[in-house]
Amino acid sequence: MSAVPVPCVAGGDDRDPAVATTSTYDRLARDYAARNAEVSDGLAVWRSGFLGLLPAAGLVADLGCGPGRDLAVFTHAGVAAVGVDLSEQMLRLAQAAGGRTVTGDIRRPPLRPAVFHGLWSSAALLHVPRPEVAGTLRAWRSLLRDGGVLSLSTSLGDREGWEAAPCRSDYPPSVPLRRWFVHHDRDELLNLIAQAGFALRTVQKEPRRMTWLQVRAVAA
Ligand SMILES: C[S@@+](CC[C@H](N)C(=O)[O-])C[C@H]1O[C@@H](n2cnc3c(N)ncnc32)[C@H](O)[C@@H]1O
Repeated sequence: MSAVPVPCVAGGDDRDPAVATTSTYDRLARDYAARNAEVSDGLAVWRSGFLGLLPAAGLVADLGCGPGRDLAVFTHAGVAAVGVDLSEQMLRLAQAAGGRTVTGDIRRPPLRPAVFHGLWSSAALLHVPRPEVAGTLRAWRSLLRDGGVLSLSTSLGDREGWEAAPCRSDYPPSVPLRRWFVHHDRDELLNLIAQAGFALRTVQKEPRRMTWLQVRAVAA
């Protein structure tokens, strides 16, 4: 059945919103994968640029890898890539696409510190509650070797809260399909990245359905 964008119910949820959001992704995984299989030209160039900065057989983590679209590209390019996500359904799809995965929270990735040449995170930091963003960026910094590269894409804006997920019309309306979104102010986020121990290299915007901030930074 084809995907239909139907806003579903929103309501209170006293669980960790990031964990509740990954439960939504468990339900949406197949739909999400189908909708996002193709990348924009801008994202494709951004991804190739990241790959070009890595040493041969470099070690990369894809934080919030989802169904593994980018993880598969890294793996097929000869990079030793591992995807981290809390959604088991997303991880299943990522494995089926040929990726190596670890179940874990991107706020404290269960990975060895100081061994990675690169960290890629596309559309995942936008689900980390604002008070936890600084700590998350510090945790990411600790994974990188000195000189390792962070490549981050996240959405610009000022809102934080639940947003109805696009969902299939065959879900019962009582099923809450919502995601916690945290949109960022450009300068505030760049400051947090710098404070976490990164030197900024490239900062650019890509307008799509949302406006994306793409940041490339090096572990200083
Ligand atoms: C919008 S999808 C992006 C997937 C993929 N990176 C892409 O660009 O298509 C966000 C992904 O981040 C994961 N995620 C969100 N918060 C997370 C957290 N705290 N720990 C682990 N994974 C998380 C979700 O489960 C989901 O797979």
